[in-house]
Amino acid sequence: MGPTSSQPLRLRDVTVPNRVWMSPMAQYAAGSDGKPTDWHLVHYGARAVGGVGLVMVEANAVGPLHRTTSADLGIWNEEQAAAHRRLTSFIRERGTVAGIQLQAAGRKGSHQLPWVGAGQNGSVSAADGGWRTFGPSPVAFGELNAPREAGRADIDEAVEAFAHAARMADLAGYQVVEIQASHGYLLHEFLSPLSNHRTDEYGGSPENRMRLALRVARAVREAFPARKPVFVRITATDWAEGGIPIDEAALFAKELAAAGIDLLDVTSGLVVRDQAARPPAREAVHAEFAATLRNATGLPVAPVGGIGDLSLAERLVSSGQADAVMVGRPLLRDPYFALRERPADPAAWPRQYQRALPHRALGG
Ligand SMILES: Cc1cc2nc3c(=O)[nH]c(=O)nc-3n(C[C@H](O)[C@H](O)[C@H](O)COP(=O)(O)O)c2cc1C
Repeated sequence: MGPTSSQPLRLRDVTVPNRVWMSPMAQYAAGSDGKPTDWHLVHYGARAVGGVGLVMVEANAVGPLHRTTSADLGIWNEEQAAAHRRLTSFIRERGTVAGIQLQAAGRKGSHQLPWVGAGQNGSVSAADGGWRTFGPSPVAFGELNAPREAGRADIDEAVEAFAHAARMADLAGYQVVEIQASHGYLLHEFLSPLSNHRTDEYGGSPENRMRLALRVARAVREAFPARKPVFVRITATDWAEGGIPIDEAALFAKELAAAGIDLLDVTSGLVVRDQAARPPAREAVHAEFAATLRNATGLPVAPVGGIGDLSLAERLVSSGQADAVMVGRPLLRDPYFALRERPADPAAWPRQYQRALPHRALGG
């Protein structure tokens, strides 16, 4: 038997008060300067009030040319870091741990907002404020424009951009950074043979395909304070013929452990447009993969996907399959997801809301 989902988890010098965490979910609500807006403060603030142990703020671009859209959050300069402080100070005041996901979009960059036109189907042209994307190979994702093939300078710049973003995240008051190495963005594009057709030392063998992501992992670990944990969002499988299988993901995970990464956030799919290469819509879809990666590495794991009620979260944690769970869409539907089923735990509720609890008598 493992701990309960309401018990803390200590990672380096950071203690996360419980094991039900908010998964990163892009809001496409930043200004063109990449700074958080009132939307982000209210959105993330509500989930912190709602009792999750850790808020993972959505994918933040590590540079202007690494954005997916012109409304992405960014964490590549000090002005952005200063603007993020409103978020981190509110989240941390609640006793919730503030995390931030760092991302380079790769060939999925420069697309329309999801609610404009056909969403990711539409690239934004340079004339309309878009930019030229790069990826491991000049092969398009679905209907998006084909990227140019990354040169050595692009690869080195990406590594430095992640490291710099980690420094800015520390300055902004984040206690955790997560490297996005999944969902078909730049690092995953290099990892997967479906998007990486290179013949140099960054393509071909698993060792070569992992080279960029591992350089980033080591650079971020070095740049972020030793007392604070670094997570990686890892793809367990590409769900496609010729893609990454779980045993290759385990190989990568072992290298991440050796690089000093503290926790694996486990997901899958989305490196190719094929609908079949999406994670199946089933309950706790990545829980078994997470347990496999945990056994292979000894690292703590947090699966995401299809964890829609607290009793399932509880089963996953107490059975020892997962150390924590990441919750996405259920928290968009209900910011109080993590609190709602814990009325018996008044300490978890904000003081301001205590009089709403069933055991409290009505007062004036
Ligand atoms: C609106 C929305 C935005 C998302 N943005 C991100 C993101 O920024 N980074 C990321 O790694 N995953 C992102 N995801 C994926 C979620 O984090 C999560 O992995 C997925 O929704 C499955 O979990 P769920 O079944 O709990 O929703 C997004 C999902 C949604 C619904």
